[in-house]
Amino acid sequence: MNIQTNMILITGATSGIGLSLTKEYLANGWTVIGLGRNIGKLQKLQKQYPGTLVIAKCDLRSKESIKNTFEAILSKFKLLNHFIFNAGIYTTHNFDELSEEVVEETMNVNLISIYRCLLHIRDRIKEPSKSLIAIVSSVAGYRGLPKSIVYGPTKAALINLAESLKIETLKYNVNVKLICPGFVDTPATKVNSFKMPYLISSEKASKIIINKINKKGFEISFPFPFNFIMKFARIIPYGYYFKKTSKLVDK
Ligand SMILES: NC(=O)c1ccc[n+]([C@@H]2O[C@H](COP(=O)([O-])OP(=O)(O)OC[C@H]3O[C@@H](n4cnc5c(N)ncnc54)[C@H](OP(=O)(O)O)[C@@H]3O)[C@@H](O)[C@H]2O)c1
Repeated sequence: MNIQTNMILITGATSGIGLSLTKEYLANGWTVIGLGRNIGKLQKLQKQYPGTLVIAKCDLRSKESIKNTFEAILSKFKLLNHFIFNAGIYTTHNFDELSEEVVEETMNVNLISIYRCLLHIRDRIKEPSKSLIAIVSSVAGYRGLPKSIVYGPTKAALINLAESLKIETLKYNVNVKLICPGFVDTPATKVNSFKMPYLISSEKASKIIINKINKKGFEISFPFPFNFIMKFARIIPYGYYFKKTSKLVDK
């Protein structure tokens, strides 16, 4: 754990993985700046952690909201240089159900908002003390999947973004981490009607992340062996991959 600032910003702090990460960091003595769009949920959470949880309303669909939130936070917390971009929406549309609105909102929240946040923190992470940029993608970003026609591409793009960012920031003291969870039991995945393989709790997911976040290595992918199965699926030839995955389309 970083003893210099002991302060971290987490997006999507009100639910699921982000909420568990927030609680885990707070339990470890960190000050957390928790972002969410639902002020009621944020205030309720803050009551449990007076003094150590700072809350900020930010709607990641809105360029203005991101600008106002980040300008205010960065000017107030001059030592803040640890960021976990976790917030995201899980959409399970197939091609027939797809609408422009869903594409726009999912791309905005899951991908474009992260670029916007990165532009705001670009100068901050170049400062001498070691900074952290962690991006929560998914194993769903490894390869095209059924019912993942919008969600999957946002997560695939985040993998590529984190890789580029890692290369580009090697000259600065930045710890870039790519986080690729498998199925985690959160309000988002409650919509799944199928039995999710190797499902883990958000508490377990956050413990895995925090345990590895300041260690060597670029990617935090879990749970084993699901992450390995998904990684293997990444390298098998297209013909075989499509034959196998097409069987899942109408399930
Ligand atoms: N659960 C899984 O199995 C799984 C697997 C792989 C990757 N992931 C990724 O992990 C991350 C967290 O997912 P989760 O399962 O914990 O989901 P979740 O329980 O639905 O939490 C999502 C969080 O993102 C916030 N959020 C959504 N839209 C927002 C917006 N427009 N502006 C600001 N905040 C917004 C939510 O805030 P509100 O409370 O205000 O809605 C909430 O705090 C996501 O990026 C997801 O893609 C999840």
